Formats: sequence, C-alpha cells, structure tokens
Amino acid sequence: MNVLLLGSGGREHAIAWRLAQSPLLSKLWIAPGNAGTDTLGENVPHVVPTDTEEVRALAERVRADLVVVASDDPLAAGVVDAVNAAGIAAFGPTKAASEIEWAKSFANDLMARAGINTAANRTFDDPDTAAAYARSLGGPCVVKADGLAAGKGVTVCDTTEEAVAAIDAALRGHAFGASGHRVVIVERMYGREVSAHAFTDGVTVQHMPFSCDHKAIFDGNRGPNTGGMGVYSPPAWLSPEHAEAIRRDVTERAISAMAEIGRPFSGVLYPGVMVTATGPRVFEYNARFGDPETQVLLPKLRTDLLAIFDACAHGRLADVPVEWDDAASVGVVVASEGYPGPVQSGHLIDGLEDVDADVQVFFAGAKRGESDRIVTAGGRVLCVVAQGPTMEDARAKAYENVRRIRFPGAQYRTDIGATASEPLVFTQG
Ligand code: AMP
Ligand code: GLY
Repeated sequence: MNVLLLGSGGREHAIAWRLAQSPLLSKLWIAPGNAGTDTLGENVPHVVPTDTEEVRALAERVRADLVVVASDDPLAAGVVDAVNAAGIAAFGPTKAASEIEWAKSFANDLMARAGINTAANRTFDDPDTAAAYARSLGGPCVVKADGLAAGKGVTVCDTTEEAVAAIDAALRGHAFGASGHRVVIVERMYGREVSAHAFTDGVTVQHMPFSCDHKAIFDGNRGPNTGGMGVYSPPAWLSPEHAEAIRRDVTERAISAMAEIGRPFSGVLYPGVMVTATGPRVFEYNARFGDPETQVLLPKLRTDLLAIFDACAHGRLADVPVEWDDAASVGVVVASEGYPGPVQSGHLIDGLEDVDADVQVFFAGAKRGESDRIVTAGGRVLCVVAQGPTMEDARAKAYENVRRIRFPGAQYRTDIGATASEPLVFTQG
C-alpha cells in the first residue's frame, strides 16, 4: 500500500516508524514530516496539512491507498472528507465526527445525551452572562475556549476573580481567536488524570493500554502547562474496576452515541479522564492519538499498525485482533531552554549515536542542518522512550539514555513515571 501520513511531530515520527515496519507498506510519504521521518519514507515539505485541496492533490499524485490524519487541525478542517470525496481511504474521523474534539459544547451535549459522567458545564457567548454564572458558582471552576486552542484554551481557576479574568480574555480580548468566541464554564474536578485511547471503525472498539501524561514543565507538576513533558504506561494505580468503567462507560458509550446521532466515529478516540473520589469522569474527548502518549504506546503494539489503520478505514476492525506487550514504557521529552515560552533553535544535538539500540528517539522540533547533522528547531525537541519489565526498569533505561543526548539548554523532567505505582488518594472533592 502507498500511505500518506500528515504531520511533523513526535507522534507522527512514532507512527511512521511503525508503518515502515509493515509488510503491507509499499511506500510512505510524510507531509511535511521532520528530521526523524525522512529516514522512514519520503518527506514532502511545504505542504500545509490543513489545506484540504493541497492534501487531496498530493494524495492523488502519489497514488495513496490510505491517508493517515493524526492531528486535530487537519481533522477539524475536513481533510478526511476531502480525501474520501476523491475516492481515497483515510484513517481518522470526518469533520463532523471530530467535532467531539473541536467543539467542547458538542462533546458536552453528546455526554449529556449518552449519560456519560462529566463535570457540570454551561456554554456562553456573552461575557456578562458568563461572569454572572461564574460568580454564582462562588469559587473554583474551569473556563474553556469552545474550540481548538493548541492546549492553551483552558484556565483552571481557584477563585471567581480568576474565572472572570479568563472569560474577559476569551470573549472581550479574543485571546483564542475564533476558538474563544464561546466559552464553556465547567465545574472543577479533583483527582488523577489518565489518557484512554482506542482504535475504532465506528462499531468495533479495540482499547489501547492506559497512559499518563505530565503536562507541567517542572518536576512535581509545577510551572506552566506544556504540550506534554513525558508519559508512562501502564498506570499501576488505576484499578481494574475503574479501567473497565472507562472502557465501557466513557469510550464505548461515546462511540455508540456518535453512531446513533449519524456521525459514526472512526480512527482513534482518546478520552481525557479524571479519576475522582466518585469514579472516572471525562474532561475532554480527543479525536486522535495523544502526543507524547503515542510515542510510549506504539513500541508496545504487537500487531501491524498499517493493518489496523486499513481495517479502521474500511469498517473491518473486527477482523484484526490487536495485541499489546504488557511491558512498562516510559517516554521523557527533552525540550529547548525557555519552553513553553520562546526558544532559540539551531543547536547541534550530540550523542544520538550513543543511544541503546532498543531505545527509541522520536523527533519533534528537530531538523537536519549542515552535513545532515540534526539540530534543534522548536520547543519540544525529542522524546526518548524505553521499555522494561517493570516501571523502574523502563524509567532507569529512559533516563540513562536521556543523559547521553546533549544540546545547549536542554531541559527535561526527572520524575516521569515516578508516581506510577503510588496509590490514588483524594485530598479534595
Ligand atoms: P483540556 O484542554 O480539556 O485537556 O484541559 C487541559 C487540562 O486542564 C487537563 O489536562 C486538566 O488538567 C485540566 N482540566 C480540564 N478540565 C478540568 C476540570 N473540569 N476540572 C479540573 N481540571 C480540568
Ligand atoms: N498529550 C496531550 C494531547 O495530545 O492532547
């Protein structure tokens, strides 16, 4: 099969790495791709993955049998619909199905209809009415831009004043552009977060192992939020009962509800779940693989990824048994100095050749410089991923290899996976 993969992040490097191992693959193109994908297939730089016409034309030119859409913006732009209209199969949900991620108000309505446990919420477009509602809550709440905002549209507030400031920033200051023309004000939940992922063709659901992201920049979950500084899988603290409740009442129920309303969802559904004192509650649905969750999950996949993608795209997932390794897997993101603020790029990355053969390095903000040497080119530069029989083995191996990779100003968290076995305790709510 000829496959066109859209994107340029660490997630796409990991997907390309698994696709390149598939006996079903004839040729892989990655648009635009990065410094890691160019050894696995042919990068097509200068393509804008959200430009539906450009992507359709490229898919036709390379005679793609399958287009893989793994990131939120191209899904929301309707790339899957455009490719399908040209008679080419795509892995990923349609624009209408991915609304579960790109409009929080849509996801909230769906959850209400399907009886899925989430935080109490209300949607507003008028700042005064929104502020009056926030005041009526009299304390902690969460203010969310309704649309996609690159992970920056959510403000977790301790006080009414913070909430009113966040409402004003979105509805009066237009801090999130069109994504923030409506805000959703949400009850604040307390607990521990877990990422659920599942493959689906709209009917059959194949769950992936659970994983946990670390969104704050510094150890101990301090400092501003980032795109994700590291992930571990599996979380030993998640009870089998809670795991089963998430699979059944959060993931499968949402996929059934999407089919019922005439928007069958195929691709990867990734619910973000807070495990609270009263059980698992959803805080968001994503219509795609997580980043960096993908980098940590895919090394554990035993089944051919391309066979799974193809089956999802053609409604045949029931024919493909999806199997996973039960090893522990840990991924540590190495970022540029200053991230998540502005960073300097162009630093030579040393030590890549010293990484163990069974450890993966997935590139994100990295490109080829002079003499083909890889240099930094963004905030999150790369993710080092290792597996082991226990979480401690996987952690030790990941960090041993992280320390071999050097560039000026490199920063990473030293506690990824450190609390994977700590029991779940509730201090509030
Ligand atoms: P989201 O963009 O919806 O993933 O939210 C980003 C982060 O905000 C999540 O990872 C949570 O840590 C936090 N968050 C979102 N919704 C809530 C909520 N209702 N209560 C507490 N924290 C939340
Ligand atoms: N790991 C967070 C995300 O992909 O949304």
